[in-house]
Amino acid sequence: MPKLTLVPPEIEEYAHAHTTAPAPLFEELREITYAQMASPQMQVGRVEGTFLRFLVALSGARRVLEIGTFTGYSALMMAEGLPDDGELVTCDINPKAAEVARSFFARSPHGRKIQLRLGPALETLKTLEGPFDLAFIDADKGSYGAYWDAVLPLLRPGGLVVADNVLWSGRVLQPEATDDHAIVTFNAKVAADPRVEQVLLTVRDGMMLARKR
Ligand SMILES: C[S@@+](CC[C@H](N)C(=O)[O-])C[C@H]1O[C@@H](n2cnc3c(N)ncnc32)[C@H](O)[C@@H]1O
Repeated sequence: MPKLTLVPPEIEEYAHAHTTAPAPLFEELREITYAQMASPQMQVGRVEGTFLRFLVALSGARRVLEIGTFTGYSALMMAEGLPDDGELVTCDINPKAAEVARSFFARSPHGRKIQLRLGPALETLKTLEGPFDLAFIDADKGSYGAYWDAVLPLLRPGGLVVADNVLWSGRVLQPEATDDHAIVTFNAKVAADPRVEQVLLTVRDGMMLARKR
């Protein structure tokens, strides 16, 4: 299993312990995900999830796009940061994960803000109309470049793209596998794109924050 943090475990635990505890539903979602799903470590967890909620709330976002729902942890966190009339569209290709996500959205007062679109995200993106205020990219790494190309035009000027796993457990420094190279190529593409300014944060597995000019 890849190591999804570059931070020493005890520091990660300290950060977790000093981050506001999410609603009890999130702990239940974590337990069910670890009990029922393959690769449960894909879930963003408390620290990154709370950071996403902060980004949504602090930016005043009203429309959020997510690529990579999985069992819904990050979607539900970001939905909490939206105003009552806010909207979050989230895409995934895995029906089992989507079923779990939908069951938890139904149990949260914020779930009604979320629309889950099942199918290949690149196809779903073709059907969406902008503008979105914030987009979170967290799906198949090989498509990150294509997601970037599809998402940027849907984002309003001043809007934010957040891409997860951009340090890829440190493999960006010595890329070997196809996904390693895809992340390296994605980071270089963002860094060279004059339409954005960006910061690569060493939170968890690396988060790229890119603000559209
Ligand atoms: C890292 S997980 C997302 C984790 C989620 N953000 C969370 O916090 O729980 C990646 C997800 O991308 C989905 N995915 C992979 N390829 C996809 C595609 N082509 N279109 C849409 N979703 C895809 C997978 O099914 C998986 O659920």
